[in-house]
Amino acid sequence: MNIGNHYIGLIEKYRDRLPVSKDTRLISLGEGATPLIRLQNIPRALGKQVELYVKFEGLNPTGSFKDRGMTLAVTKAVEAGSGAIICASTGNTSAAAAAYAARAGIACFVVIPDGKIALGKLAQAMIHGAVVIQIQGNFDAGMALVKQVANEAPVTIVNSINPFRLQGQKTAAFEIIDALGAAPDFHCLPVGNAGNITAHWIGYCEYSSVSGKNVTAACTFCHGQCAFVHGAVAISRPKMVGYQAAGSAPFLRGAMVDNPETVATAIRIGHPQSWDQAWKVKEESGGWFDECTDEEILAAQKLLAGKEGVFCEPASATSLAGALRDIKTGKIPEGSRVVCTLTGHGLKDPDTAIKQSKDPLHKVKAELAAVKKAILENMPR
Ligand code: F0G
Repeated sequence: MNIGNHYIGLIEKYRDRLPVSKDTRLISLGEGATPLIRLQNIPRALGKQVELYVKFEGLNPTGSFKDRGMTLAVTKAVEAGSGAIICASTGNTSAAAAAYAARAGIACFVVIPDGKIALGKLAQAMIHGAVVIQIQGNFDAGMALVKQVANEAPVTIVNSINPFRLQGQKTAAFEIIDALGAAPDFHCLPVGNAGNITAHWIGYCEYSSVSGKNVTAACTFCHGQCAFVHGAVAISRPKMVGYQAAGSAPFLRGAMVDNPETVATAIRIGHPQSWDQAWKVKEESGGWFDECTDEEILAAQKLLAGKEGVFCEPASATSLAGALRDIKTGKIPEGSRVVCTLTGHGLKDPDTAIKQSKDPLHKVKAELAAVKKAILENMPR
């Protein structure tokens, strides 16, 4: 129950567009309502006239966009009487699953790759009390195992193949339209399993229709099921642009990648679960896929942190890295309004942040003269 104007989460906010009833017990941690921050210093330095925003999904309760889908997936699992959830994860899904399971009072099993999970994410799954199963294999192997387990045991899968995940995640597109009054021209996202890019497209298709200009378009994902679209029709929708890490870029290769590698461990995925859907999103929206090298990803992470004060994790910076390149080349033309999703918070992966920071620490004696010297030597001239 909402009291006054107290924001209690995205299911309550967008209740009429989500599959819940008035009797559904909502499992929520106040997710959603993340800031859409207009970048100032980076576009100025670029010398390009673009309206560039980042949607900082790292400010969700467990520090990533996964909370949007998890609130609904766990709500529906509980409603269906499930006592346990399971997921394979590169880290963020497991953190969200563990937190929402704790909130719901149900069990949580997470299957994570050996050694390639950022420290913060592992800490989250552990402190929330999930059973953490670390396999000697990568995410794709974990995903295959989780699907088999869920066939044989009474556990609900909360990976993005659970349709409620995408339904929750579509609300990010609603928020962007609410904030801007229209869809952006381009929406850039990092792509792993491609669930999030698919969810955003569902959201844009549904929500743009409500604003009511007469352009006939329908979303092919809901098959006529979504509450608002059909009958009303769509106004403009963005071109959806998906960027992958070069070592884990099956959409660029046009085929699955068996041994994906990247510093952006969150998107170290070679066998995307939403493969067909993502190709459809690209075609329907007129967007494209591209890849960024690890160097480009880390440079964008650092640029954003150093020039705009926004700290996202490496995978998240992939959206900005790609967008900046496409703005520079003019593929994203001047005059465009662009949104980049920053999928997770930088604190998830402190090791990578510290490793790539030059001049990280000045170790000096605890004396005035030494501290003064360190300050004077580093004062901007
Ligand atoms: N960015 C971050 C920070 C992620 O954690 C993920 C996926 C993505 C982007 C890609 O989103 O899969 O919907 O295309 N992380 C999953 C996980 C795989 O297990 O946490 P996608």
